[in-house]
Amino acid sequence: MPHADSLALPDGLTDKRAFYEHVCTVAEALLAPSSPSDPAANWITVLSNAASLLFGSFENYEAAFGRANGRRVNWAGFYLVPSLLSRHAPSTDPTQLLLGPFHGRPACNSVSLQGTSSRPVGVCAAAFLSGETVVVPDVEARPGHIACDGVTKSEVVVPVVVRRAREDGTVEDVKVGVLDIDCEGLNAFDDEVDRAGLEQFVEVVKRVVRWEL
Ligand code: SME
Repeated sequence: MPHADSLALPDGLTDKRAFYEHVCTVAEALLAPSSPSDPAANWITVLSNAASLLFGSFENYEAAFGRANGRRVNWAGFYLVPSLLSRHAPSTDPTQLLLGPFHGRPACNSVSLQGTSSRPVGVCAAAFLSGETVVVPDVEARPGHIACDGVTKSEVVVPVVVRRAREDGTVEDVKVGVLDIDCEGLNAFDDEVDRAGLEQFVEVVKRVVRWEL
């Protein structure tokens, strides 16, 4: 099957829960490496196709089921810890996340992980720091929200936390970044179906990438 056909939704899809289940199944097939040594299991390759798959699948979902308040999902992508890029970036400043693979219009190159008393951190930083998914029904009502695109009205951000084995056999959780989805309509994402569906999607992505942390 041509890779671009992975965006097609099956006939008979009943609702958004089934949509996410379908997208996660497709992601497993599309993103999975062909062998344990497949170089395509690196995070740039996997996250690039993951962002495109989500963005295009939302487009097709909206064509079939309608949009949130008539408005589209306009951005899907990742913000990542600079240390993932340590071999290639001039700085590994731990106080920010850097723009990673995405699909949509140009966005902020980085987001700060440091708030101030007058300005709390943005949505991506809040999800990253708390380790919890953040659903924002109205970004303009959310203090600290960073507007990369003025047309965005609602947003959901899922943290990406990877478990790795230490040399002594114990394990630790490493925060590597966040998945961010934006929509031009208010209240596009809910705390139940969207949160669960996107968290499941992140689980697939985490399993597929060979992180080399
Ligand atoms: N709104 C985000 C910034 C990233 S853009 O939406 C792509 C935030 O508040 O962190």
